[in-house]
Amino acid sequence: MLDAIGITNFKAFARQDLALAPFTLLTGLNSSGKSSVLQSLALLRQSFEAGLLDEVDDMGGLLLNGELVELGTGQDVRHDTYVRHEVNSPDDRNIVLSITTEGVPYEWRAEYGREDDLLRLLSRPVRPVSSTSYDLRSLFGRRFQYLKADRIVPAVSYPRSHEAAVRRGFLGARGEHTVNFLRAHQDDSVKAESLCLPEASSTTLLSQTDAWMQRLCPGVNLQAVGIDGTDTVRLSYGFGAGVSASNRYRPTNVGFGLTYALPIVIACLSARPDSLILLENPEAHLHPQGQTWLAYLAAAAVSAGAQVIMETHSDHVLNGLRLRVKQGKLRADSTAVHFFRRKGQSTEVVTPVIADDGTLSDWPTGFFDEWENSLDQLLD
Ligand SMILES: Nc1ncnc2c1ncn2[C@@H]1O[C@H](COP(=O)(O)OP(=O)(O)O)[C@@H](O)[C@H]1O
Ligand SMILES: [Mg+2]
Repeated sequence: MLDAIGITNFKAFARQDLALAPFTLLTGLNSSGKSSVLQSLALLRQSFEAGLLDEVDDMGGLLLNGELVELGTGQDVRHDTYVRHEVNSPDDRNIVLSITTEGVPYEWRAEYGREDDLLRLLSRPVRPVSSTSYDLRSLFGRRFQYLKADRIVPAVSYPRSHEAAVRRGFLGARGEHTVNFLRAHQDDSVKAESLCLPEASSTTLLSQTDAWMQRLCPGVNLQAVGIDGTDTVRLSYGFGAGVSASNRYRPTNVGFGLTYALPIVIACLSARPDSLILLENPEAHLHPQGQTWLAYLAAAAVSAGAQVIMETHSDHVLNGLRLRVKQGKLRADSTAVHFFRRKGQSTEVVTPVIADDGTLSDWPTGFFDEWENSLDQLLD
């Protein structure tokens, strides 16, 4: 599990350390740096997958544009205000990302190059004395999911990539491999009890997906099938019982929210003890009760051993997490809530703590207080 992340000179951050828990929520105003945190982890992962964090020669580096994130060049990612420090130390130009896992810190220091899309590594983590090698994969979890806010929309068909969905179990940064993943793994058993809803007909991924999707839309069921002679798969929905029970509907004729939520649901249901799941605005297009259920599902993935880092604007998601703590389904010390707000050119982070009874230690101004603000004015 990742215990902490440190970000220096990267996008919205001059310098920021953040504690990470099994379930971490990143909240705050628009453009305050929440996605930048997820991007810094995705950047490390994408550089790692490209073999660039291990290299001992000059080829190692941070790969700014790839399968997970497309960040541009050095000038796009280096924090703007570094200029003020330039005269002090040439090292201030550089971008430094660090993570701590199981108490061991790892740091990657990359050289700034204005036009570069591969930022050369100046230093990489030192192998712990106790081990002959370090397994970088274990820093990120063997099963890694990163679902951006911009996800798949209802479509007639979706790609069928054996490499992504089956071999790597990767849903795609936009969830584009989700339908093929469901097709390939529908009969696999969801092993963790925390993730299984009792009303489902079995513990298979498909039954449990149906059951969780029914919490968002009662009666719904899904089918994911390959289309013969093509490299695509098709998703269809059915609704409830009665004379129309056998009717199938294509996603384009069904509400937007279901298809939009599907990658999130599958990412959580396929969680393993070594999974790292990064989710951006999972609540998008869901009704309030669905948002609470989504928090329950993510909490269940955490109980199954996964680590979830979630950016959200939803008070229902926050409250869902607080409720799971209060109900004893998740330990309070398995949660971290960070509230981001802009301070001048940079970002400031406040960290309210969830107690065992679900209460929060602190309600900083602007932190999910809009309901109260509006109510005050309505009652005035
Ligand atoms: N190179 C940079 N230097 C300074 N700030 C940056 C840089 N790149 C992006 N930002 C700032 O980061 C913020 C966007 O961060 P982001 O993580 O996308 O926000 P959020 O997810 O909270 O909406 C914007 O305020 C933008 O000005
Ligand atoms: Mg964002």
